[in-house]
Amino acid sequence: MSVLHQIKPAPSVNPVERLMAATAEDMARVNALILDRARSHVDMVPELARYLIDSGGKRLRPMLTVAAAQLFGQSQGHAVNFAAAVEFMHNATLLHDDVVDESDMRRGKPAARMVWGNKASILVGDFLLGQAFMMMVETGNVAALGVLSSASAVMAEGEVFQLAKTGDLNTSAEDYAEVIRAKTAVLFEAACRVGAMSGGADASGCDALGRYGLELGNAFQLVDDALDYGGQSGTLGKNVGDDLREGKMTLPVILALQAASDSEKAIIAAALGKADATDLEVHQVVAIFGKYDTLNRTLAKAHEHAAAAIAALAGLPDSEMKTILADVVEHSVGRAS
Ligand code: IPE
Ligand code: IPE
Ligand code: MG
Ligand code: MG
Repeated sequence: MSVLHQIKPAPSVNPVERLMAATAEDMARVNALILDRARSHVDMVPELARYLIDSGGKRLRPMLTVAAAQLFGQSQGHAVNFAAAVEFMHNATLLHDDVVDESDMRRGKPAARMVWGNKASILVGDFLLGQAFMMMVETGNVAALGVLSSASAVMAEGEVFQLAKTGDLNTSAEDYAEVIRAKTAVLFEAACRVGAMSGGADASGCDALGRYGLELGNAFQLVDDALDYGGQSGTLGKNVGDDLREGKMTLPVILALQAASDSEKAIIAAALGKADATDLEVHQVVAIFGKYDTLNRTLAKAHEHAAAAIAALAGLPDSEMKTILADVVEHSVGRAS
């Protein structure tokens, strides 16, 4: 094998696998910390937390934190603490989100709330959030603590804004953009920014990584929202059409309502928020999406954000990690249904 091949993996290697390989050492420490901090003398806490933690999340956000730190040279710093905290924040949000959305499935398994109930899911989510803040405080890095605290508040705000807009046929594309920025993109932004901070980046480096994370997060949620209508539940780990049944005003539905005839609007409105809408009803709505190309238009929007994420890295010195981060964006928007 040539030297070039040893340094640069073939382009066919999945960029997320390259990210996993490049962050493996730090992520082993992150995973150990996650398991350690999920412990509690109250048995139900680790039982429920471990059920979710062990069920195969991608660990994308914590990988981005340690990758951002490595990009600026210091893989030690406190990136491991911040990465574990970010994953705890994410998992806390998922526990709460599945209660709010009344979701049955998470990570390909029955959601924790289906096993332990809503009350336990909310309380263990709160426990994880508290543990996340403990890990941040231990670093003594008040600036990074500020970034993640703010993200925590904004995420909750985003979920509340989305709740307020549930089933609201007048929800605009701008409202939707605000929802996904707040509930999803801000945590990606914070994950990348605190990684850069703990890696010793200067202000412009932190801003670049923050922008990268924000745009990647926006792209990620747009793809997720398109896949909700276009994916197979077996590969998604959740059910197709759930967003419709929950009355969630995502971009595919917003764009369709803007273009639809009165009779088509009535079909969408009847299924929106109908918890027991049949697969046939979902298919009728998806057919209207097809007529107005709203899934592809949603994915096109994701590609715009993806391009902005890659552009955010442009001013940084070239490195293998920079290439991986750029390729991860392409992969995230191209992820299979
Ligand atoms: C799920 O995030 C929530 C969204 C923002 C769509 P991920 O798809 O990163 O979830 P896990 O952690 O890999 O399960
Ligand atoms: C996921 O949001 C949780 C947050 C980003 C707060 P969604 O409700 O849109 O995602 P899924 O479909 O449950 O993963
Ligand atoms: Mg949900
Ligand atoms: Mg939700």
